[in-house]
Amino acid sequence: MEYRNLGRAGVQVSTICLGAMTFGEPTEGSFMHGVAAPEDEAFAMMDRALDQGVNFVDTADVYGSDGLSERVIGKWFERTGCRRDVVLATKCRFRMSPGVLGSGSSRRRIVFACEQSLKRLKTDYIDLYQIHQQDKNTPEDEVLRALDDLVSAGKVHYVGCSNYAAYRLVESDWTADKRNLTPYATFQAQYSLSIRSLEREHIPYMKRSGMGLLPWSPLAGGLLTGKYRKGELAPTGTRMASWTDAMKRFDTDRNWRIVDALRSVADELSTSCAAVALAWVRDRPTVTSVIIGARNCAQLDDNLRGAHLVLPPELRQRLDDVSALTLDYPYDFIAGNDGTW
Ligand SMILES: NC(=O)c1ccc[n+]([C@@H]2O[C@H](COP(=O)([O-])OP(=O)(O)OC[C@H]3O[C@@H](n4cnc5c(N)ncnc54)[C@H](OP(=O)(O)O)[C@@H]3O)[C@@H](O)[C@H]2O)c1
Repeated sequence: MEYRNLGRAGVQVSTICLGAMTFGEPTEGSFMHGVAAPEDEAFAMMDRALDQGVNFVDTADVYGSDGLSERVIGKWFERTGCRRDVVLATKCRFRMSPGVLGSGSSRRRIVFACEQSLKRLKTDYIDLYQIHQQDKNTPEDEVLRALDDLVSAGKVHYVGCSNYAAYRLVESDWTADKRNLTPYATFQAQYSLSIRSLEREHIPYMKRSGMGLLPWSPLAGGLLTGKYRKGELAPTGTRMASWTDAMKRFDTDRNWRIVDALRSVADELSTSCAAVALAWVRDRPTVTSVIIGARNCAQLDDNLRGAHLVLPPELRQRLDDVSALTLDYPYDFIAGNDGTW
């Protein structure tokens, strides 16, 4: 297993991070209902991942019903005593209870949410505490101050953000610098062969600033495993059979061309589409660790193959080309100037 710095931070994490969104079977009404893993399977996945050198786990208060994913991880820490072997990331910001106080990233909410997560996770500290999405109603200055206080109190080691617009990443770094507050070490966002929109603004900024990228849904919810076929219904029991809106969004000619290319590369390398898709993301600029999703140990084993696979340049190029992003104005205008005008 390869280890990299957690973005701007000194701590080293595996290039594969175990995503915990599937941990525990939530009640009806949760977005993960029917597509998650029972507690015992989640324990087995954590055992297996740790055994294979994965030292990084990502969860959120909102995963499962009523903090279920965090509770499963807390129970696993209690059973195994493995807390100190894991760099633990969690998040807050999305709705956990009704009313105006139940969501957002105000100071009041961050401090409360952190206390709740610590209890569920049965730990005294969170290694990476992330804001799950930028909050339009809270100034970034307030968010950073609240997080910085948690760092000073020893409850949090590093801070990060997720699902931020690029302008807000820059605003956040300026604010942290000007006010001497802890800056975000990492940025967590959707990034895969299918979704490459971060390449317009976020990744160029992160290259300059040193912030590390933690890609989520690197298999586009399962599409990039090759188990779905153009014009056919999603197989029963899969995520896309339940998340029909997501399947509609993914059902584009570009995505099916990407899946075809993945199949051809996987055949040439005698491996799986999932391993190829994960290896492609892992070695993209600014990526620290790829947050994988799995619903059982067999999927996890398949995905862990992606940790060790190195794509030959010509095959990587084939995938770059088939998934190339349309830049649009002004990015195409800027990129088109090679210095001659
Ligand atoms: N910050 C955010 O807003 C955000 C949002 C989403 C996720 N995340 C993080 O990112 C992690 C990963 O996200 P994700 O679950 O969407 O990742 P993903 O890898 O794109 O999708 C995972 C799903 O694909 C299917 N799958 C995975 N590996 C497979 C394999 N080898 N063969 C066949 N099917 C396979 C499984 O679904 P089925 O078996 O049910 O089909 C699995 O649950 C989450 O756990 C979470 O930590 C963060």
